[in-house]
Amino acid sequence: TWTMKAFIDEQVEKIKERVKDKKALCALSGGVDSSVAAVLTHKAVGDNLVCIFVDHGLLRKNEAENVVKIFKEKFNINLIAVDAKERFLKRLKGVTEPEQKRKIIGEEFIKVFEDEAKKLGSIDFLVQGTLYPDVIESGTETAAVIKSHHNVGGLPKDLKFELIEPLRDLFKDEVRKVGLKLGLPEEIIFRHPFPGPGLAIRVIGEVTEEKLNILREADAIVMEEMKKAGLYKDLWQAFAVLTDIKSVGVMGDERTYSYTVAVRAVNSEDGMTADWARLPYDVLDRISARIVNEVWGVNRVVYDITSKPPATIEWE
Ligand code: XMP
Repeated sequence: TWTMKAFIDEQVEKIKERVKDKKALCALSGGVDSSVAAVLTHKAVGDNLVCIFVDHGLLRKNEAENVVKIFKEKFNINLIAVDAKERFLKRLKGVTEPEQKRKIIGEEFIKVFEDEAKKLGSIDFLVQGTLYPDVIESGTETAAVIKSHHNVGGLPKDLKFELIEPLRDLFKDEVRKVGLKLGLPEEIIFRHPFPGPGLAIRVIGEVTEEKLNILREADAIVMEEMKKAGLYKDLWQAFAVLTDIKSVGVMGDERTYSYTVAVRAVNSEDGMTADWARLPYDVLDRISARIVNEVWGVNRVVYDITSKPPATIEWE
């Protein structure tokens, strides 16, 4: 619409004026907010924007490849994709406590980001996808507040940047409209929220490569079936959790002893409270049948029928 176009033009001009020929950096996660902020800034300053995308190995199936494809190939954004899978996995070895996992991942993320930022030499600006609700929540209007709201531990505090926050007057639905107008694909614009620590908090207990692979396959099936059934856009979140429960099953003449996958789907306005989604039985049935048939290592699927509160949306 006209107002979205006007917003984009105005922000592009503002960013151009501020950045001039200096350099801006953006930590791109592939989530809606950072994606829209990055594309908007790129429109203003082109290659003077460098995006860093950290693949911590805790992403969903094909997620890293898709981010690179979209931002590098479609938008021609100067994107550095860092493969940090081994670093993260090594640090998570033997760790089972949820908050400990979050802490480790947050710290490691900052280290990886700093390492990459240092290689780039002098950077003056940091682009962030801060929205209006984040501004309200952090309780201050100063630009010095870095969006750490539920994110991976915020960003390096000792690196001196000025912030570019082109979305700080917008609500989520407006950001989506801006994103669509900028040509971002629906797959990004309507993406469900995904926690910074990623699949690490959806693998219950120790995180291993084997468990991550099982979860990625199961999760991809949940996603695919939700989309096929036309339910994806109406849900706040839908995903799979790999529990640390093994149970007995039977396949052909053989006894199996394998993992239990939990399916979680919720409706929510803001993530603060949530209602478990009354999914149609036939959709649940297809998800269950496909997971046990197609995913090695899983012989049982359960559906989480708990709302928030008292349960949280994530299992860790
Ligand atoms: P819970 O599980 O607390 O989640 O009901 C509420 C919303 O927040 C997301 N979430 C996180 N996002 N880092 C994030 O960036 C985190 O550590 C984290 N924990 C939960 C969750 O996916 C849901 O949308």
